[in-house]
Formats: sequence, C-alpha cells, structure tokens
Amino acid sequence: MRFEGRTVIVTGAASAKGIGFASARRVVQEGGQVVLTDLDGEALAARVAEVEAMGGAALGVTHDVTDAAGWDAVLAQATARFGRVHGLVNNAGITVLAMVEALEPAMWHRQIEVNMTSVYLGCRLLIGHFRAHGGGSIVNVSSVAGLVGMRRCTAYSASKGGVRLMTKTLALECGTDGIRVNSVHPGVVETDIQKVARRDASGDSAAIAAAVPLGRTAVADELGAAVAFLLSDDASYVTGTELVVDGGLTAQ
Ligand SMILES: NC(=O)c1ccc[n+]([C@@H]2O[C@H](COP(=O)([O-])OP(=O)(O)OC[C@H]3O[C@@H](n4cnc5c(N)ncnc54)[C@H](O)[C@@H]3O)[C@@H](O)[C@H]2O)c1
Repeated sequence: MRFEGRTVIVTGAASAKGIGFASARRVVQEGGQVVLTDLDGEALAARVAEVEAMGGAALGVTHDVTDAAGWDAVLAQATARFGRVHGLVNNAGITVLAMVEALEPAMWHRQIEVNMTSVYLGCRLLIGHFRAHGGGSIVNVSSVAGLVGMRRCTAYSASKGGVRLMTKTLALECGTDGIRVNSVHPGVVETDIQKVARRDASGDSAAIAAAVPLGRTAVADELGAAVAFLLSDDASYVTGTELVVDGGLTAQ
C-alpha cells in the first residue's frame, strides 16, 4: 500500500487504455486517491466511476493542460477534496507528425504547448505546493522520441526532449526540499495515441513489434508500474533520472 493517505494528480487520464489512467489505477490499487484531469469530461466521468467501482476515491476535473489559470483551479479543487497533494503525473500529450516542410507553424506551436509548456505549468504550480507541504514527487511522461531522432517527429521530439531536460533542471532546483522529479520514456504502447500515429504513418503492427528486442509492443499498465515506482518511496533516492520503458528499442 505505497500510496496510503496520498493524493496524486494525473493529467490526460480520461483515455480508458491510456498511460495516464493505468498510472492512476496503480495508485488507487495501492491505497491512494487520485485527481484525474483531461479535456474529455465525459470519458473522465467514466474513469472516476471505474475508480469508485474499485472502492477508491477519485475527483475528475475537466482541464486543458495548456490553460495556466485552469491549473490553479485543478489544485484548488484537489486540496478542497483531499487536502495536500503528494504527487503529479504530467501525462497528457498529442502527436503532431509531419515531415518538416509540411509542419505548419500552428502545428508546431500546439505540439509544444500541449506536450511541453503544460509540463512547465504543472511543475511550477505543484513545486510551490510541495515546498509548502514537506515534499512530493513528479513524473513527466516523455518518450523514446525525447532520446533519439525519429522521422516526422520534429515537433514531437522537440517537445519530449524538452521535457527530458526540464525534468533534470527541476530536480536540481528542488531536491533539498524533498521534491523528486523524473521522466519516463515509453517506447510503443498500445493506446489511442499509438493508433493515431500508426494510421498517420501507415504503420504495420507486426513490423513495429519485430523492431522491438522484446518482440512485442507494451500495454499501458507496464508504464503505469514504472510511473508508480517513481512516485513512490521505493524511488526515494531517485531524481533527475530518465526511466526508459521501451522493450529495448533504444538499446540497439
Ligand atoms: N502510446 C505510446 O506509444 C507512447 C509512446 C511514447 C510516449 N507516449 C506519451 O504518453 C502520454 C500518454 O499517451 P497515451 O499513449 O496514453 O495516449 P492517449 O491518447 O490514450 O491519452 C492521452 C490523453 O491526453 C488527453 N489530452 C490530449 N490533449 C490534452 C490537453 N490539451 N489537455 C488535457 N488532456 C489532453 C487526451 O484526451 C487523452 O485522454 C503522452 O504524453 C504521449 O506522448 C505514448
């Protein structure tokens, strides 16, 4: 019960098969309570009901992660319901895939705002809260595309590479206040975002799996396990690190 008495905010948590909800489910299974946020209010209500059916406690807040004032409202609602917050998972993300000549400025800006500026907004707010309440743990969901170059990922890689180094800088800034900040780097995980990426790239599932040393793609719960580890006291001496969960994809 690593999360007993603890509250964790997870962004992008409405997607039933997504990494955000898989992470939240782990927290609930181990005794914690969760604040689930997402753009999609209807799906969010369904996820809150799922947590309650498990016997857990969840608050759903409809929020676009790029909205700074909305972040204040998320934290205010979280503390009103559960008291202090102990963890944050910056998970919400989109994929804007295009060869650079086709990448219009509006596409670039939206990709950077949703995947990277949002992480700055969430960390800025929660680090203040954690400093005032004795510490906390932040997990930023990056990608293997934040570690190595990938075709058609100019904006996506820039956003995820930015999250990787922002994470390390924040870890330096707040370690002595008991705040840990780490990033997780998924490879190919069977979620909705992956379906979009594959459709856009006409990707073939068998060929993708064959390129992974473990011979298969991941399910979201395998990422949830990694996020839960970093959130928990099992990772009490881990900060500023990048946990790659990619079946060996970037080991070759
Ligand atoms: N699935 C993969 O293969 C993979 C690989 C590497 C990294 N990732 C990263 O993992 C994270 C989670 O993705 P997933 O695979 O679970 O995808 P998903 O599409 O299942 O979930 C993403 C969620 O984010 C929400 N979202 C999108 N824009 C938002 C916004 N502006 N404000 C609030 N919520 C918003 C969506 O509504 C959705 O519920 C993303 O950051 C993604 O880039 C995924």
